[in-house]
Amino acid sequence: MPQTEALAARYGARDLAPNGPWNAVIEQLLSHRSVRAYLPDALPEGTAETLVAAAQSAASSSNLQLWDVIAVQDPARKERLSHLVGDQAHVREAPLFLVWLIDFNRAEAVAQAAGRTVEGLEYLETMIVGIADAALAAQNATVAAESLGLGAVYIGAIRNHIDQVAAELALPPKCFAVFGMCVGKPDPARPTEVKPRLPQSQVLHHEQYQPPSLDEIAAYDARMVEFQHGQGMKEIGWSRTVLSRLRDGAALSGRDNINDLLHAMGFQMR
Ligand SMILES: Cc1cc2nc3c(=O)[nH]c(=O)nc-3n(C[C@H](O)[C@H](O)[C@H](O)COP(=O)(O)O)c2cc1C
Repeated sequence: MPQTEALAARYGARDLAPNGPWNAVIEQLLSHRSVRAYLPDALPEGTAETLVAAAQSAASSSNLQLWDVIAVQDPARKERLSHLVGDQAHVREAPLFLVWLIDFNRAEAVAQAAGRTVEGLEYLETMIVGIADAALAAQNATVAAESLGLGAVYIGAIRNHIDQVAAELALPPKCFAVFGMCVGKPDPARPTEVKPRLPQSQVLHHEQYQPPSLDEIAAYDARMVEFQHGQGMKEIGWSRTVLSRLRDGAALSGRDNINDLLHAMGFQMR
C-alpha cells in the first residue's frame, strides 16, 4: 500500500502526516488492526515458538525478563477462559490464546537458591518494569504474527478475574496474567479495517508538552463516528469511550479491586 494511502487510513486524509522515510516494515506496522474473527484452521507447527522468539528479542529493562507466556490451545481451557473474560467468543475461536504473565516467582526462586532476598520486588517501580517488558515482548509477537499473515487481539479482560485465571493456569504466587492475546488466521468473510488514531498534532509534541486541542479532538470524534458507521459499530466517536470507560471504578469491569487481589497473590507495591 502506498505511503499516503496508509497514512490516510490511520489518520484520515485531512490529517496526513508529511511523508517521511518509508519501508515495508513501517507499512506493515501502519496496517495493524485488531482481529477478532478467525478461521478454525490450526496454525502451522512451531508458530507459538516463533512468536515467542520474536517476543524474547524485545528489549528488557536490565535484562530482568520478568515475564512469561502460556500458550493455550486446549479447547476446553479456552472455553473456560473465554467465560472469565466476559464471554469474548474470539478467545475460544482463536486456535492459539497466549496469556502474558508478570512473573516475580522466578526472581524469588533465584534469590532463595542463593540464600538472598530481593526486596526490590516489593516496589511499584518493579511492577512497572515487568509490565513494560511484557508489553514490549507481546507487541513484538503481535508484529511477528501480522508479518505471517495472522491476526491478533489483546485481551485486557484477562484481569477481570485474575485470581480465577491464576487457578486455571496453575500460576504460583507472585505471578499474574497481565493480558491475553488471541492469534489465528483472519476470517476473510469478516474483515476489520484500520482504526483511525488521534491526529499526530495531539500526540507528538516538540520540545515541550502542548495542551490538548478540543477542536482537534472533536474532528477525531467525527472521524471515529464515520469509521464506526462503516464497521456497523455503535457510533459513539472517541471522547464518549473515554468518558464511559474511565467514568469510575465500577466501569473497570471488576478490575477496580486489582490491588487487593494482587496483594493476596503475593505482590506488594510500595
Ligand atoms: C492491553 C490491551 C487490552 C485489550 N483488551 C481487549 C479485550 O479484552 N477485548 C477486545 O476485543 N479488544 C481488546 N483490545 C483491543 C483494543 O480494543 C484495540 O487495540 C483498540 O480498539 C484499537 O483498535 P486496533 O487495535 O484495531 O487499532 C485491547 C488492546 C490492548 C492494547
